[in-house]
Amino acid sequence: MKPQYWIRWLSQQGAPRLALRTQARRGDLFSQLMGGNGLDDPYPLIERMRGRGKLQRTPIAIATFDHALARSILRDSRFGVRATQSFNVPRPLQELGRRFPLPPNPVDPPSMLVIDPPEHTKMRKPVASAFTPRAVGRLRDRVETVTEQLLDGLSSDGSADLIADFAVKVPIAIISEILGFPESDQDMFLAWGDSMSPLLDIGISWRAHRTALLSMEVMNGYLDAHIARLRRTPGEDILSSLVTGGELDDHALKATASLLMGAGFETTVNLIGNGIAQLLAHPGQLERLRAEPELWPNAIEEILRFDPPVQTTARTALTDAEVEGVTVRKGTTVVLSLAGANRDPEVFADPMRFDVARANAKDHLTFSNGIHVCLGASLARMEGAYALRGLFERFPELKLDGPPRRRQLYTLHGYEKMPVRLGPKVPVPEPTTV
Ligand code: HEM
Repeated sequence: MKPQYWIRWLSQQGAPRLALRTQARRGDLFSQLMGGNGLDDPYPLIERMRGRGKLQRTPIAIATFDHALARSILRDSRFGVRATQSFNVPRPLQELGRRFPLPPNPVDPPSMLVIDPPEHTKMRKPVASAFTPRAVGRLRDRVETVTEQLLDGLSSDGSADLIADFAVKVPIAIISEILGFPESDQDMFLAWGDSMSPLLDIGISWRAHRTALLSMEVMNGYLDAHIARLRRTPGEDILSSLVTGGELDDHALKATASLLMGAGFETTVNLIGNGIAQLLAHPGQLERLRAEPELWPNAIEEILRFDPPVQTTARTALTDAEVEGVTVRKGTTVVLSLAGANRDPEVFADPMRFDVARANAKDHLTFSNGIHVCLGASLARMEGAYALRGLFERFPELKLDGPPRRRQLYTLHGYEKMPVRLGPKVPVPEPTTV
């Protein structure tokens, strides 16, 4: 194992891990939330923290659970995304960690997710323009076909794990289409996604960090060969158009491909899984969708609001900034709880109620806001709608067959197992547009 792996872990994960554990033991709610107590159900802790004010200084970071404040910080040019993992780690240790670069990946520059303008604009523009109406139209056809094939493959009156057998398979097929990956490699991407998604959390174990970095190395080699192949024989996929467009060099292409892989897959699987769980937990809402199927697009927004696949993000003050009467010093990280913002009673009436007809459900912050707003939001909504509507229409008597199990991650919030009895399968309904 390379020595830089140790240094990275120590500076970015080990030190915050120790701090989170110590503070959680001393009763700090924020450390309890980020450090593991809220993995199955973070909402009671979020509500306790909301009661303590709009902008809260915790021993670990400044945090907000307030919708208006989170939204305004996301849109504020005094805040950026660079080095948001600082979390009170002594500066020399942070610098040391940054001195050892890793292979291109979603959470290090030049990934657009973690860079500020003007570099951010340069990285985002070509990707945004590669999502052309033609490219997205092709993806819609693919989402529809993949969903139908998967539903056909689930047996009438059988049992299934709806995460492994359904929820992961829709987004992995779509992201493979975007990146021009062969279908035969999908299991490998699933394994990489699994091992790299903890990197979005704070204070992960050395073991989880090491596994993630080993996958990163393997993925790097794979992407080198894949990009060289696309350069020789480009396909009709979005990555091919980025490769031939010539605006991004190989390092930037690999960072972008790995970001699209993670952002496009690890989130959408949770939208589908969380959606199944909420609809099964609220049979009255499912009944309403059966009676009024035109509510499906709004139901997707309510699922995104109520149980967001990405619970939190963060910004760092680029300069001393006055916020809510508090001076946030340059370099300080502010944690923005997207899940907390989505249940802010100032914006959402009776926020703990799951209501597929909620008029302003789409005002959630699940896709973030400002210049980093999710590039794949409409694609994710489309995947969620086809998958969930298709599933509940084909299997109207679907029931849980044991408790679903949550993934033990904080930032990415979803299920790893969902055992169900499918019940009888009804014939394919008339084609629908969602
Ligand atoms: C339900 C599914 C999804 C959720 C909840 C989600 C959520 C998010 C969030 C919260 C951010 C911004 C983070 C921040 O501001 O710090 C983001 C950024 C991004 N997302 Fe998504 N995402 C989803 C699906 C997708 C899909 C399907 C794609 C592409 C195929 C995608 C591509 C991206 C990219 C490229 C960025 C970076 C944008 C930038 O930094 O400028 N996402 N996403």
